[in-house]
Amino acid sequence: AIERTLSIIKPDAVAKNVIGKIYSRFESNGLKVVASKMAWLSEQEAGQFYAVHKARPFFKDLVSFMISGPVMIQVLEGENAIAKNRELMGATNPKEAAAGTIRADFAESIDANAVHGSDAPETAAVEIGFFFPGMNVFSGR
Ligand code: CMP
Repeated sequence: AIERTLSIIKPDAVAKNVIGKIYSRFESNGLKVVASKMAWLSEQEAGQFYAVHKARPFFKDLVSFMISGPVMIQVLEGENAIAKNRELMGATNPKEAAAGTIRADFAESIDANAVHGSDAPETAAVEIGFFFPGMNVFSGR
């Protein structure tokens, strides 16, 4: 089915100047950018976005990292977009990410891991609504 997923290019990858290279992987694998914006998240926004991880030991470091610089946020649309994007990203820990994936090629550590992608249809809907409320998604089909 055609799905939408929320993708974030994290501060490490933005700093490395590889936004275009990452977009190119989305595009050449059937994922279309249907909304996008650059933002420098506040501590409150990052904490709210990652609220499901609030109790995890890495939460504080995760929030600090996500507010360390600007991020590029986009909605990707395509056939099986959620799983497809996760396949393109590779494992959360870049040391375990398959060769040729975004994290294998551009990420340094489990914290600075270049990209985020929604993990399920329910979280995708919540995450898309968080950054692109209502009408700011342009399907153009
Ligand atoms: P992301 O997909 O953005 O979702 C939560 C983030 O927490 C994850 O990518 C990692 O960058 C970060 N993180 C740090 N430590 C861990 C861990 N042990 N397990 C999962 N995520 C972690």
